[in-house]
Amino acid sequence: MTLLFLSTYILAAINQYLYNQQRVELLANANVVANVVSEYIEEDRGIIGWLISQLNVAENTRVIITNKHAEVIYDSNSYSDVQGKVLMKEEITSALLGNDTVSTTKTDEIGNVLEGAVTVLSDSEIIGAVYISQTMQETEDFLENIRWILVVISIVVCLLISVLSWVMADIIISPIETLTQFVSSFNSSTMNKRIKVTGRDEISELANAFNNMADRLEEMEEKRRQFVSNASHELKTPLSSIKLLSESILSVQTEENSYIGEFMTDINGEVDRLAKIVDRLLTLTKMDAGTDVLDTKLTCINELLERVSRSLKPQADRKNIAMAVIDTEQVYAEVDAQKMWQVIYNLTDNAIKYTPAGGVVKLTLKKEGEFCRIEISDNGIGIPESDVDRVFDRFYRVDKARSRESGGTGLGLSIVKDVVELHKGKILVDSKEGAGSTFIIILPLRQHADKEETNNE
Ligand SMILES: Nc1ncnc2c1ncn2[C@@H]1O[C@H](COP(=O)(O)OP(=O)(O)OP(=O)(O)O)[C@@H](O)[C@H]1O
Ligand SMILES: [Mg+2]
Repeated sequence: MTLLFLSTYILAAINQYLYNQQRVELLANANVVANVVSEYIEEDRGIIGWLISQLNVAENTRVIITNKHAEVIYDSNSYSDVQGKVLMKEEITSALLGNDTVSTTKTDEIGNVLEGAVTVLSDSEIIGAVYISQTMQETEDFLENIRWILVVISIVVCLLISVLSWVMADIIISPIETLTQFVSSFNSSTMNKRIKVTGRDEISELANAFNNMADRLEEMEEKRRQFVSNASHELKTPLSSIKLLSESILSVQTEENSYIGEFMTDINGEVDRLAKIVDRLLTLTKMDAGTDVLDTKLTCINELLERVSRSLKPQADRKNIAMAVIDTEQVYAEVDAQKMWQVIYNLTDNAIKYTPAGGVVKLTLKKEGEFCRIEISDNGIGIPESDVDRVFDRFYRVDKARSRESGGTGLGLSIVKDVVELHKGKILVDSKEGAGSTFIIILPLRQHADKEETNNE
C-alpha cells in the first residue's frame, strides 16, 4: 500500500516537473523565434523559412508565425493550408493582445499537445505572434517507462519483503508457536514431557522457566498421589478391624440390646462405603502413577455386557427396571477384560441407580470400522446441563445427599474415564434432565496398532 502511494507520488512529481520543463522550453523557443523573425515580418517574409530552418527546431514541433492581424505568414507544416489565412487560435489572439500563454490540449490523433504563443515586438509595438505546438509523446513515453520501472521495483520489493517476513516469522514465531502448543497441551498425562531448549534468547529463557515449573508441578503431583495412596493404605487395616469388630458385635446381639444391632448395621454400611472409597482411591492412584499396565486379551464384548447384565439383574429387578443387551454381531476387542467389566458395571450400576422404578436400561453394542461403540442408556433422572462436564471429576455427585444415601462414592465415573483412556478410547455423555442419560464408549478394537502409532510419533 505504502509502495503504491509512493509510486503514485513519484510519478505525479516527475510528470509535473517534465510538464513545467517543456512549458518553459516552449516559451523560450517561441521567444527566440520571435526575436529572430521580428525584423523580417513586415518586409522580407521570404527569409523567415530559412531562418527557422537554421534554428534546428525539434521534429515534434510546429511553428506558425502570424502578423498582427493573425494572418499566417509562415507555417512549418508544409502540408497545411493555413498559409495566408487568418488563424483564430486562442493562444495567438491572446499573444496579439500582449499576453504570452501556454496550455495543453488533448487530441484524438496525437494525444496531448502543448500549445503556446508569444508576442513579436518591434520597437515595443506588437507586430505579430509566434505560435508553437509540440506533441507530448516523448514525455509520455518517458513517463510510461518510469511507470514500468516503478511497477517492477514494487514487485521486487514486495517479493523481498514477503520472503524476509517469512524467514523472520520462521525465526521468531515458530519457537513461540512451539511453546504455546506445548503449554496448551500440558496436562496431567503430558506432565513428564519437557520443551527442548536451544539457544539463549528470551524465548529459550521462557521455555526454561516453563520446564522448571513443570518439574515442580510433577513433584507436587507425585507427592499428592503418594499421600492419597499412603493414606488409603493406612486406612485399610483399621477399616478391616472395625468391620470385623462390628460384625462380631452383630453376631452376639440379644433381644434386649437389639437397638445396638441396628446401630451396628448402620456402622457396617458406613464401613463398607469407606472401604469402597479407599479401594477406588487406590485404583485411581495406581492408574495416575502409570504403574497400572493393561492386561489386554482379545475379549468378546458381547459376553462382557451379558455378564454385567446378569450380575446387576437382581438390582434391576428390585426396582422393576427392564434391562436388555442389544447387539447384532459378535464384537471382539483387545481389552483388559477385568477393567472393562468394571467400566460397564459402573455405568450400568449408575443407570439402574439413577432411574426410577419401572424404567428401562439398555446396553447396546455396535462395530464401527476399527472401533466398537458401547452405549449404556437409561430413561432415568438425567444430568442437568451444568453438571454434565463435571460428572467425571473425582467425588463429583450431582445430588450429594441422595448419592451418599445410596452409598455412592462419586469415584465410579472417574475410574470409568481413566480405564477407557488407558485403552486409548473415549467416553461421551448425552443426557437430558428428567429424560435420561446415555454414556457412549468408543474403543479401538486393537491396542497394538495404536501402540505402534504412538511409538512412531
Ligand atoms: N445414568 C445416570 N443418570 C443420572 N445421573 C448420573 C448417571 N450416572 C452418573 N450420574 C451422576 O454422576 C455422579 C457421579 O457418578 P459416579 O458413578 O462417579 O458416582 P456415584 O454413582 O455417585 O458413586 P459410586 O459410583 O461410587 O456408587 C452421580 O453422583 C450422579 O449424580
Ligand atoms: Mg456410580
